[in-house]
Amino acid sequence: MIRTKFTELLGVEHPVVLGGMASGTNLDLVAAVSAAGGLGVLGATGYSPEQIRAHAEELRRRTTEPFGMNLLLFLIGQRVPEAAVDAILGSGVRVFSTAWGDPAPYVERAHRAGALVMHMVATAEEARRAVDAGVDSVVAQGTEGGGHVGYVSTMALVPAVLDVAQGRPVLAAGGIADGRGLAAALAMGADGVLMGTRFLATREAPIPDSYKQAIVDASGSDTVFTQIPDLAPEVRWPGAMSRVIRNRFVEEWLGREEELRQRGAEVGKETEAARANGDREGMKLFAGQSSGLVHGVESAADVVRAVSAEAERLLRERVPSVLATASVR
Ligand SMILES: Cc1cc2nc3c(=O)[nH]c(=O)nc-3n(C[C@H](O)[C@H](O)[C@H](O)COP(=O)(O)O)c2cc1C
Repeated sequence: MIRTKFTELLGVEHPVVLGGMASGTNLDLVAAVSAAGGLGVLGATGYSPEQIRAHAEELRRRTTEPFGMNLLLFLIGQRVPEAAVDAILGSGVRVFSTAWGDPAPYVERAHRAGALVMHMVATAEEARRAVDAGVDSVVAQGTEGGGHVGYVSTMALVPAVLDVAQGRPVLAAGGIADGRGLAAALAMGADGVLMGTRFLATREAPIPDSYKQAIVDASGSDTVFTQIPDLAPEVRWPGAMSRVIRNRFVEEWLGREEELRQRGAEVGKETEAARANGDREGMKLFAGQSSGLVHGVESAADVVRAVSAEAERLLRERVPSVLATASVR
């Protein structure tokens, strides 16, 4: 069994967290991850306050284990009503997971409601500000990850975030899809991992089967770091680019971003239709470089247990064997 500051803080069995992916998570996936001993997080961006309350209630019916809900902070007050925050915090959710914005206005409110704040960052500077704001845990998300990501790699970001985390649990995200990634993160001093891409390729994930298969088929070099998905239709992310699997949609617009900006609404409808039809060449395939480590579609519970068990084995066997070799010389 692996024990870290994160598993202790949350009272979970495995230091494995489901990224709160908007349009990439649902009740089945969140409940399965939490029930298996990880931390399930529902991407709640886009849900109404009523939906949030109903989802929290249903999740509590399905599992007695902790779970979280995620909001993209820069959209609060634009596409996401303030009332969504109240709905999450009023629903007794254990973890309020936040990303892309300033968590400071929400920390005290969350704590008063009995929730912990887990904030995702892409730079050490953001981590320092989040820690100063009093967040309980920091997710260091590297550029290898799927969806919206920053510019720094996980390998360089995690230690830099640990340096400013003042002892708070830090989770590594981006490029991690198996026990080797978890073992490496723990060896660096992190307290667990958060995964998106690996959980998209599970039976429970609410994405088309063709999207799951695209992840399984992709190698680590098949993703593109681009603005293209955000131009159709245009959404101005604060300092984020996105990582997607290269397909016809991306190929068509690479180098023609200005034209896409003009035609964003129309092309956005085409990508939606492609997703509805399961056309993997025409939809936005948000996924990370860890696609190359995903070899099949499994159940989410199997993923949580396998990642944790592999990391435990590596830490027990591999780490001591390396130390023994070093001491012989
Ligand atoms: C389809 C998709 C949607 C995502 N949506 C969100 C989101 O709404 N909020 C969030 O905090 N992170 C979101 N993420 C990022 C993940 O939470 C996570 O940081 C990332 O997937 C980690 O990298 P990995 O894909 O290599 O595991 C999304 C990722 C993907 C692939």
